[in-house]
Amino acid sequence: MAKILVTGGTGFIGSHTVVELYNAGYEVIIIDNFANSSPKILQQIKAIIGVELEFVRLDLCDESKVTEFAAKYPDISGVIHFAAFKAVGESVQEPLKYYKNNFYSLINLINAYKSSLNLVFSSSCTVYGQPDFLPVTEEAPTKKAESPYGNTKQIAEEILQETCKVSPSLNVISLRYFNPVGAHATALIGELPIGTPQNLVPFITQSAIGKRGPITVFGNDYDTADGSAVRDYIHVVDLAKAHVAAIKRLEGAQADSNYEVFNLGTGKGSTVLEIVNAFEQSTGEKLNYNIGPRRSGDVEKVWGDVTKSSKILGWTAELNVDDMMRSAWNWEKYLKDNPF
Ligand code: WQD
Repeated sequence: MAKILVTGGTGFIGSHTVVELYNAGYEVIIIDNFANSSPKILQQIKAIIGVELEFVRLDLCDESKVTEFAAKYPDISGVIHFAAFKAVGESVQEPLKYYKNNFYSLINLINAYKSSLNLVFSSSCTVYGQPDFLPVTEEAPTKKAESPYGNTKQIAEEILQETCKVSPSLNVISLRYFNPVGAHATALIGELPIGTPQNLVPFITQSAIGKRGPITVFGNDYDTADGSAVRDYIHVVDLAKAHVAAIKRLEGAQADSNYEVFNLGTGKGSTVLEIVNAFEQSTGEKLNYNIGPRRSGDVEKVWGDVTKSSKILGWTAELNVDDMMRSAWNWEKYLKDNPF
C-alpha cells in the first residue's frame, strides 16, 4: 500500500485529507508540531477511521530532524504539505515568523527527499488578489499579495516551479484553495480557530452558539448582488478528496510537466449575506449581525474556474453551501459538549 506523508496532518484541511487518504486505501503517516492544532485530533481521526495512524511530532524547520525522518522513511510515495502558518492578520504583525516557518519547512522537505519526490502543495486563491476576470483560471496572473501570508504562498509556488525546472525527480501539484469551510460528517473534526476567529464561518458558528457577539459584515458597499463581498466557499471534505486525486495523478506520472497548478473551488460565488442567510436557513438558528466598514486587504469578489480540476484531476466539488453550514454548525455543537 502506497505510503503518503501528510505534514500538518492534525490541522483543519490536513486532518480531513488524512481521513480521505485512508478511505482511499493509502497508508498515511502524519507529521505535526501542534503549532496551530491540538494533539487530540489524532484521537478524533482514530475514532473516525478505526485505526491509529503513525505520527511523528517534528518541526519541519529543523533541518537535521527532517533529514533524519527521510532516512527513516525512504519509502514515502508522496507528500502532502500543509504545515505552514496561515493567519493573514498575524502575518502582517510578524512577517519574519511567517517567512522563516513557511519557507524553511518547505525547503527542508524538498532537500530531504530530493532524490525523488511527489509533492502536493497547499496553496491559495490569495495568489490571484482581485482577479481582472471572473471566474479566475489558473492562467490568471498572480498579483502582489496583500499580506506576508499570501506572499509566502506566491513565493513558495515560485520556489517549487523553479526547482522543478532543474529537478526532473521532483513532481509537484500546487492546489489553490478558495475558501475552505465546514466539517466532517461525524462532527469529530473541523476547524479549530485559536482565539477570535478571523474567518467568516467559524465566527458565524461561534456567534450562533453564544461564544461571540453579533457578526460584523465587513462592508456592504461592494459592487455585488447585495453589496457584501463574494467568495467561492468549498466544503473541506470536497477539498480533501481533491488532494487524493492529486496524489493519484502524481503516482500515475501522467503529466507532461512536473509542475502543475489547479484551482479548488466550486466555481460559484456567494456573498457574505448569502452565507449568513444560508446558515440560518439550513440550521434554523437565528444570527445577529451588524454592517461594518470594509476590512483592509479584502478583495471585492473572487470565485474560481474549476474546469481544469474537473477535466484533468477528474475531481468536482459535490457538497453545497447548506452542507457546509450544517456540518460547521454540528462541529460547533460538538465542541461545546467536548471542549478541546
Ligand atoms: C470571507 C469573507 C470577509 C469575517 C481567507 C484567507 C485566504 C484563504 C481563505 C487559506 C470576506 C467576510 C469575514 C467576519 C466578514 N485561506 N467576513 N466578517 O479573507 O476570503 O480568505 O481564507 O488559504 O488566504 O485570507 O476568508 O473567511 O476571512 O472572509 O464579513 O467576521 O467574509 O470580509 O469577504 P478570506 P474570510
